[in-house]
Amino acid sequence: MKLSQELLNNLIEITSKSAIACYQYIGKNEKILADKAATDVMRHQLNKLNIKGEVVIGEGELDEAPMLYIGEKLGMGNGPEIDIAVDPVEGTNFVAKNLPGAMSVLAVSEKGNLINAPETYMNKIATGSHIPKGAIDIDFTVEKNINIYSEITKKKNSEITVCILNRPRHNKIITELKRLNVNIKLITDGDVSGALLVSDKKFNVDIFMGIGGGPEGVIAATALESLKCNFQGRFIFETEYEKKRAAEMGIKDLNKKYEIYEIVKGDSIFCATGITPGDLMNGVVKQDGNYITETIITYNKSDLELVKKVTSLT
Ligand code: FBP
Repeated sequence: MKLSQELLNNLIEITSKSAIACYQYIGKNEKILADKAATDVMRHQLNKLNIKGEVVIGEGELDEAPMLYIGEKLGMGNGPEIDIAVDPVEGTNFVAKNLPGAMSVLAVSEKGNLINAPETYMNKIATGSHIPKGAIDIDFTVEKNINIYSEITKKKNSEITVCILNRPRHNKIITELKRLNVNIKLITDGDVSGALLVSDKKFNVDIFMGIGGGPEGVIAATALESLKCNFQGRFIFETEYEKKRAAEMGIKDLNKKYEIYEIVKGDSIFCATGITPGDLMNGVVKQDGNYITETIITYNKSDLELVKKVTSLT
């Protein structure tokens, strides 16, 4: 059974409503409350759907509830079996500090088609659809990847931009990029958006790389797969607990490099509504008794589509 248009419309409704729930916390320095508001609405709305859903990529484990936890069953239990990846607030700091780029995100696939993974870090690399599959590789050095990219695109290093999270763990990569005279787009948070910037030349990002959240990697991969872009990821299991959880979830090779088709298979839907304005879409706007939201979706190998929605306050 393919994912339906009705499900797509429902998901747009849900991320819109969870973004709106967060609106009151923009600039309030309350990231936990913002996350909770969006999570509560997302759970409530997903539970109203005629699906047999299960969270496979979520915010922690059962004992970390009230977040949407891995293994949580969602929906009325009477429809298609759906795997769900949730990120009710991607960029909680952005909401708390009223900075650009926060969004509310959901990704779904038919049962069994989305990777099942614990919440850990992931090393990631992404490029646009104009780069042949397999050309750029997470295991190559930064220099080799830049050289290959430059050769394929005929761009000089000084015309290439790499997006990466601004974290001390990336100091070596950043130093290397500077040495290579490559431009760097340093983001403070929000690497789902960061990865998606490779999907369209208008964003002026050639390569996304570095370590960020695993759930965010899986969610970004869902959109990038529809957009025929390239993505590789490798989970980083540090603690004994993370290793044990990975084994319980069926991950045998803890060092495995995942290709995009191993992260998401078949049809999938990615749906993200802006909370604060960002590169990809506008944030929630309150106007004349209504909330105006912008949602980007990818569905069934579609382009990145922008949907504007007006939700009444009542
Ligand atoms: P939250 O919205 O859950 O705070 O995540 C924001 C984020 O920047 C992600 O986009 C990214 O994958 C992750 O945090 C990076 O984690 P860390 O801040 O620990 O480096």
